[in-house]
Amino acid sequence: MCGIVGIAGNQPVAERLVDALKRLEYRGYDSAGVATLVDGKLERCRAEGKLFNLEKKLSEEPLPGTLGIAHTRWATHGVPNETNAHPHFVDGVAVVHNGIIENFSELRDELTAEGAVFTTQTDTEVVAQLLARFRREGMDAKAAMLAMLNRITGAYALVVMFADDADHLYAGRFGPPLAIGYGRGEMFLGSDAIALSPFTNDISYLMDGDFAVIDRQGAEVTDYAGKPVKRQRQISQASAFVVDKGNHRHFMEKEIYEQPEVISHALSHYVDLADHRVKTSDNVIDFKALRGLAISACGTAYLAGLTAKYWFERYARLPVEIDVASEFRYREMPLSTDQAAFFISQSGETADTLASLRYCREAGLKIGAIVNVRESSIAREADAIFPIMAGPEIGVASTKAFTCQLAVLASLAVAAGKARGLIDEANEKTMVRHLAEMPRIMSAVLNRIQPQIEGLSRELSKFKDVLYLGRGTSYPLALEGALKLKEISYIHAEGYAAGELKHGPIALIDENMPVIVIAPHDRFFEKTVSNMQEVAARGGRIIFITDEKGAAASKLDTMATIVLPTVDEIIAPMVFSLPVQLLAYHTAVFMGTDVDQPRNLAKSVTVE
Ligand code: G6P
Repeated sequence: MCGIVGIAGNQPVAERLVDALKRLEYRGYDSAGVATLVDGKLERCRAEGKLFNLEKKLSEEPLPGTLGIAHTRWATHGVPNETNAHPHFVDGVAVVHNGIIENFSELRDELTAEGAVFTTQTDTEVVAQLLARFRREGMDAKAAMLAMLNRITGAYALVVMFADDADHLYAGRFGPPLAIGYGRGEMFLGSDAIALSPFTNDISYLMDGDFAVIDRQGAEVTDYAGKPVKRQRQISQASAFVVDKGNHRHFMEKEIYEQPEVISHALSHYVDLADHRVKTSDNVIDFKALRGLAISACGTAYLAGLTAKYWFERYARLPVEIDVASEFRYREMPLSTDQAAFFISQSGETADTLASLRYCREAGLKIGAIVNVRESSIAREADAIFPIMAGPEIGVASTKAFTCQLAVLASLAVAAGKARGLIDEANEKTMVRHLAEMPRIMSAVLNRIQPQIEGLSRELSKFKDVLYLGRGTSYPLALEGALKLKEISYIHAEGYAAGELKHGPIALIDENMPVIVIAPHDRFFEKTVSNMQEVAARGGRIIFITDEKGAAASKLDTMATIVLPTVDEIIAPMVFSLPVQLLAYHTAVFMGTDVDQPRNLAKSVTVE
């Protein structure tokens, strides 16, 4: 989603603003722009498409100025053209915005009736128009900002610059994240700490309802009534991070291959890898006392939660309510304080997930956050943070965050089973030993399967529709496989519980729709093989992802069989994720799509 940067600098800022925008590219965007203040005049440069278009324009017409704001736009209201790109200018006011102004049409009607002329199709322009009106009415910049923030509703992170104020940038936050960076004689604003990492790691985060004024020396934060509030400064860990693909073609590929390493790092936080015991240092969530667990998340994180439902219910006999956050938040689900609520989010900023968290907090539930970004809004509002330690994930399509979420959730399910007296010491040791073996097994799989998958992807890229099937924990993985393929290759794909085949998708089976069956040799294997038979009997072409035992047991003709090592059920979802991810990745590479930033998608979805 949109990325925001602002710099009150002591040297020209345009180049540094673009550098910071590059670090926000991973969020997804379709146009970009920069504005600076030059001799009391607002100047800007905007371009459709990727940042190199903006850089090219800037090299032809450089923007001087030591005060500036910049933006990558992920279109919501209005097409992604140059006119709609931010910063928006109205009578000496420059605005960049991430989010949605929900009362924009009401405000636009009001302002138009007063004679305002709108030049864009965006909701953001009402912010600039409102500010311009308040300034015309005689308010100073600060008063105009507060008046504007009290008029708009919705979700927003806003940074504003005024032509008649060479010393300050103004910001407001309600929903999408916004951080203040403290430099030496310079100050920064940015959507996240990664954006500001080249300049400073001394960061504070604005909370909902915060208004901030920064100059080159510091920041002043108040509420919308102008009452000062204190926001703790902290040293961000993002500073060590360099945006670098290493020797990989795409971030997604790099992130797929990083999985063994990051998973072992994550696991070491939750289990004792030498002693094969779970670590139970976090007792904010008392699994023993719980009657149930509510899980809410979006996209791939939701599918990690769906997998965890199988684990918590089987290993800990803990009933799990799970829903996508956009439904969860409005379902009016009866909740009670003997349930805990878990929110899974790579970014920790997904608007629907955050809203679900607040709904559960209202209901008095203890909140656990399974997040990658520890300084995120979701982490900050939780009672217990369970970091997944995947490191920055840049590819829009989630890979390593998914398997790290799974590794953490599997460890928590074992901890819950132990706390509830369902897993004894011997079982705990066995299960943790399996988890501990996982990084090594994943490494071996990654080294082995790539050539076969690359060849198969060439075939797959010729089809228009693909069906994924799985049972048990392979069912969420079938959904994830379909999601991954459609989001980066744009091939239509559906994931189904194998048992549901007969209730609909079987009508579509023919030689033009390959069926990818994910079936380790587990408790459900025979049943899934029966479903494969139903596909084969109708001329369907099967890509069979199984293990050594499964390959030996099945006699069916397939388009391809990908054979993984036979592993314990608890680690199968992580190990089987690898061929699923690589198949989507290589297919997208063959199709020539923008793998790391697929069209229309955003990494961090900060609006509803
Ligand atoms: C977007 C991303 C997905 C991600 C989902 C949830 O759709 O493209 O990769 O799974 O948001 O994001 P979160 O940051 O909450 O995990």
